[in-house]
Amino acid sequence: MTRTIRKAVFPVAGLGSRFLPVTKASPKEMLPVVDKPLIQYAVEEAAAAGITDMIFVTGRNKRAIEDHFDRVHELESELTAKGKSDLLELVRGVLPAGCRCIYIRQAEPLGLGHAVLCAQPVVGDEPFAVLLADDLIDAEPPVMRSMCERFAAEDCTLLGVEDVPRANTASYGIVIPADANAAVTAITGIVEKPEPAAAPSTLAVVGRYVLTPAIFALLADARPGRGGEIQLTDAIAGLLARERVLAQRLHGRRYDCGSKLGYLKASVEFGVRHPETGAEFRRYLAQRE
Ligand code: UTP
Repeated sequence: MTRTIRKAVFPVAGLGSRFLPVTKASPKEMLPVVDKPLIQYAVEEAAAAGITDMIFVTGRNKRAIEDHFDRVHELESELTAKGKSDLLELVRGVLPAGCRCIYIRQAEPLGLGHAVLCAQPVVGDEPFAVLLADDLIDAEPPVMRSMCERFAAEDCTLLGVEDVPRANTASYGIVIPADANAAVTAITGIVEKPEPAAAPSTLAVVGRYVLTPAIFALLADARPGRGGEIQLTDAIAGLLARERVLAQRLHGRRYDCGSKLGYLKASVEFGVRHPETGAEFRRYLAQRE
């Protein structure tokens, strides 16, 4: 089996209900952090890992994502005519060089696991990455690159994990690590959204995975789990009986942009660093405190 990850799946068909009303007609993944939508950060992270095939699992109201990664000739001609070469470069660079986009529909939001299963016809029989764009991870090197390098060495499923406060375990898939302190550890179990008292650890799966194609058979057989959804976590639990699964602690800082607070924090942090807004935004924040 190839150890090079060429394909990334971006499940973007969720309802985004925590962000209503803004997600009523537009996708959560198009929310901007300063001037780039969340999905673009995720695609750039995948491209930095050497991934070329960007597979989006979309649903209703997600047309804006497809439009975002298309070339817009009228806009490019106008920017050329006006001599705005910097903006032209920005617009042309939205899809990283050498990458292509493939779109698949998830007709109904039946859960993250179901969304991943929808990508099977395009992924085929090779290992692949999954990135949830609402987990924005600010890290150098980008975390998916580290995970792909680890995959090349280990050749098994990898879950990106981080420690979360025990009070928050019910928002995550929580793993049972063989060694809770190791940077990379085998796992012996995984539970979807356990209540704090029942959580087997505080090591949470965040939105980065490298999966072997064996996951598809398990997803195809999966029954609706927690919340009535087909859960990726349940399929990973099944995979454990057949294959080694490793949890890799992610470096850098993660912003949960699927929640209002996480999104606001990301906007502030990226805003104070942005070359155009940084200096004045920092002054503004200092003044109002
Ligand atoms: P979330 O749990 O964040 O769900 O899904 P959501 O629907 O987007 O947001 P809330 O909870 O209603 O506010 C995690 C990821 O899985 C995708 C979402 O788009 C998100 O990237 N997803 C979820 C799908 O693609 N399809 C689904 O059926 C469910």
